[in-house]
Amino acid sequence: MKRTLLVTSALPYANGDIHLGHLVETIQTDIWVRFQRMMGHDVTYFCADDVHGTPITIAAKKKGVSPEAMVAEISQRHQRDFGTYGIQFTHFSSTGTSINRELAEDIYLKAVHADAIECRSIEQLYCPNDGMFLPDRLIRGTCPKCHAVDQYGDSCEQCSAVYNPSDLIDSRCAECGTPPTLKSSDHYFFKLSHFEGIIQEWLKSGHVQVEVANKLNEWFANGLRDWDISRDAPYYGFKIPNTVDKYFYVWVDAPIGYIAATHEWALANGISGIDMWKQPSVEIHHFIGKDILYFHTLFWPALLYVGGYQLPQRVNVHGFLTINGQKMSKSRGTFINASEFAEHFNPEYLRYYLASKLTLSIDDIDLNFEDFGFKVNAEIVNKIVNIASRLGAIIHKHCDGHLGTIHPSGDALVTEIADAGDRIARFYDGVDTLKATREIMALADKANQYIDFQAPWSVIKTDPDAGRDICTTGLNALKILAIYLKPIIPSIVAGIESFLNCPSLTWEDRYTRIEQCRIQPYHHLAQRIDPATISRFLANRIPSETAV
Ligand code: 2FM
Ligand code: ZN
Repeated sequence: MKRTLLVTSALPYANGDIHLGHLVETIQTDIWVRFQRMMGHDVTYFCADDVHGTPITIAAKKKGVSPEAMVAEISQRHQRDFGTYGIQFTHFSSTGTSINRELAEDIYLKAVHADAIECRSIEQLYCPNDGMFLPDRLIRGTCPKCHAVDQYGDSCEQCSAVYNPSDLIDSRCAECGTPPTLKSSDHYFFKLSHFEGIIQEWLKSGHVQVEVANKLNEWFANGLRDWDISRDAPYYGFKIPNTVDKYFYVWVDAPIGYIAATHEWALANGISGIDMWKQPSVEIHHFIGKDILYFHTLFWPALLYVGGYQLPQRVNVHGFLTINGQKMSKSRGTFINASEFAEHFNPEYLRYYLASKLTLSIDDIDLNFEDFGFKVNAEIVNKIVNIASRLGAIIHKHCDGHLGTIHPSGDALVTEIADAGDRIARFYDGVDTLKATREIMALADKANQYIDFQAPWSVIKTDPDAGRDICTTGLNALKILAIYLKPIIPSIVAGIESFLNCPSLTWEDRYTRIEQCRIQPYHHLAQRIDPATISRFLANRIPSETAV
């Protein structure tokens, strides 16, 4: 049955470049999207820049430009980087659009109408010099627990204590150093507890991983707290209707940006994006990191519900990326931008490596560079590309580029590889690309064993027809393996498609054979990773005491 899937990746903040941590998610999503498209489903994939909030204002101020100018420039860079890694969005938007403003206002007013918004006065730290309330991250001081100096307003990096900003000793504004004062102002709260029954019901029906559901149950057990959705001016964001100088907290309009991006694209295509978010025949699939679980599995379903939208079919959560076993950190040199990485390595190699590690677990995954080089060379180059180069050379040298028919010795092998497609498809559909790649490589091993055992390079000298047919068998195996790998390494597979003269392979094509036809001369499809490239890359960035 043809499914209609609406897929999203989390919206990156428009205050910095895309790094490998972002790519874990967009690559995971893009692989899923490409797979579903190959299966013939109707798939749209949306993302956008998340442009509001204090960090954006501060980053713009540091650069000496307006937030709007910074966001416009960053959006170009984000789209360029995602393009480099082959991410095929249907549309990439911004949360700053007027469509998003209207949608955010509409959902808010519906929440007011549903009695889910409460206004009350709260006291917060305020910088009299900057004339602004200070978010936790903009307050620095001494940890009340371990007395480490220069800690953030909400938690201590030394002892991991979590506290209220007003408990910090000798607190000061991180921007100007002025000691903050306490000041009260009205805030608008979203009464999350109103929606507890709806969210619990949704969670019970398998829309999140089991691990995630367990985490959520802990939050439920502690009671759902009201959510402060307003910020005082000056704040870069959307004004809250019927208030004086109150703005939506960035996390209100950020997820609504998913709907706005859909709607913006739909309008240009003469359909209603709003309807897509209301029709149960459209399945909404989000991909997010575990750090934003709370927003996507509690606030977001509640906002959708109160706005009259359907709840997501699935929220897929992944873990963080570590680099050579270390947290990504600028000072350790383990913070790697997407564009830098692509200057040294084929972006499709990262897609393959991450795919080979990603499952539905929310555990962190590690990019170990030694393993990365080893895996890419052993699997993509030795097991896949080598089939094309070895057999292509024989077919062009001895058979003028013409394939024969599948040799009886390999008929069962080709059938076995094609039949594995249903199992591999289940792994892809279930977001378990680790299992999918394992299975594909096990089949590639069988194909290579067959070729090695049959030795067509020597058979062709004594029995040209048999030699040609063994090569034909190996190339048919390659074609099916290419189909299976296409969601992960689409450009390399495009090279295989041209080589075999069979463009636009779909999942169903695994059962069509390429026989009695011409293939193109073999052109280099993928380069081995030279360990020296890895050493140079790491030596240039990782401080020597931690270099591997
Ligand atoms: O955590 C982040 O990077 C946010 N910018 C993600 C927003 S996702 C969505 F809700 F908009
Ligand atoms: Zn200040």
